[in-house]
Amino acid sequence: MRYALIGCGRISVNHIQAALNNNLEIVGLCDLIPERVNEKKEKFPLVKDVPLYTDYVKMLEEVKPTLVAIATESGEHAKIAKECIRHKVNVIIEKPISLALSDAREIINLANEYHVKVCACHQNRFNKAIQKIRLALEDGKFGRIFHATANIRWNRDKSYYEQAKWRGTWEQDGGALMNQCIHNIDLLRWMLGDVEEVFAYTDNLNHDYIAAEDLGVALVKFKNGSYGIIEGTTNIYPKNLEETLYIFGEKGTVKAGGSSVNKLEVWRFEGEDEESVLKENSEVHQNVYGLGHTPLYKDMIEAINEDRTPYVSGEDGYKALELVLAIYLSKKTHSKVTLPLSESVKSTDFKGLFKEE
Ligand SMILES: NC(=O)c1ccc[n+]([C@@H]2O[C@H](COP(=O)([O-])OP(=O)(O)OC[C@H]3O[C@@H](n4cnc5c(N)ncnc54)[C@H](O)[C@@H]3O)[C@@H](O)[C@H]2O)c1
Repeated sequence: MRYALIGCGRISVNHIQAALNNNLEIVGLCDLIPERVNEKKEKFPLVKDVPLYTDYVKMLEEVKPTLVAIATESGEHAKIAKECIRHKVNVIIEKPISLALSDAREIINLANEYHVKVCACHQNRFNKAIQKIRLALEDGKFGRIFHATANIRWNRDKSYYEQAKWRGTWEQDGGALMNQCIHNIDLLRWMLGDVEEVFAYTDNLNHDYIAAEDLGVALVKFKNGSYGIIEGTTNIYPKNLEETLYIFGEKGTVKAGGSSVNKLEVWRFEGEDEESVLKENSEVHQNVYGLGHTPLYKDMIEAINEDRTPYVSGEDGYKALELVLAIYLSKKTHSKVTLPLSESVKSTDFKGLFKEE
């Protein structure tokens, strides 16, 4: 399958590796900054002869990929995704799939119209620990779920934001919830289902050089009657501490932890040997982005070949985005927010929330 990548920055190595691991034919690499592509060619000798583009529309027209991954700054995802879809190209879109609900909806609708697949890159769904929990949930092993918690306790310092000026802006990114915590917010919502109401606080306590939040705390009421607590921050001293997902059910208690929900740390179900399950369902990885891009790509390739919905669909990307925006809206209005949100809600609605812009 012919594959191209748009955006060759920090996360692009995971995409190139996933494409190689899945034997995709890499036919184009695109970045506005050619050195970014050249750095990746040096790192991955297998792509050294792949054509380099700075104009993604030209690339789409010349190399005619079947599948494209979009790994540019978040505020650019929607425009690029819509262009790819209009060229009848299937897309893997890095999270968040866009920063405006109307754009996310348009991406999903256009993909239906042009008969292509959209996958939102929430790769942590494929972590061994998360898959183990998900299968238990699908088998009904928890019984009724009472509540669940998702937290991300990471550190992002000035040097991280200085690497790329778009980070932490309302136009191109959002803050700790939209950028870092959205993976775990996706997991919580995926496990517990659709959300009814949200009440939240967000703040910027320690990053006066960015516009968006560095802390978010939210209470979530799900339609099935269970509750969730979300805590996401980039303020943890002095380095990344953990990303955890706990689920508390009538007949089961579980925790995925580690730096990015990569270790199963608690597994309590009657008659099960906790120690051996924990051992079998933990992964070690080099960075917090984990090992999930490769299985996510594998699923997307199969979804295209089998003409089915990808495991992490555009609709899943929409719902994760909607929950983050609901948290922002609750902070802004200092009130409980009911879902579904109006499709007019977007990240730039929150400009000036923490400092004058
Ligand atoms: N899934 C994950 O775990 C994960 C991890 C990190 C980042 N991300 C997401 O990936 C995206 C990129 O993040 P990053 O940290 O790699 O950013 P980055 O700034 O390091 O890289 C983005 C690249 O996109 C390029 N670009 C921008 N507009 C372009 C265009 N029109 N055509 C071609 N190239 C263009 C930029 O020049 C830059 O090199 C963001 O949406 C981010 O939220 C996801």
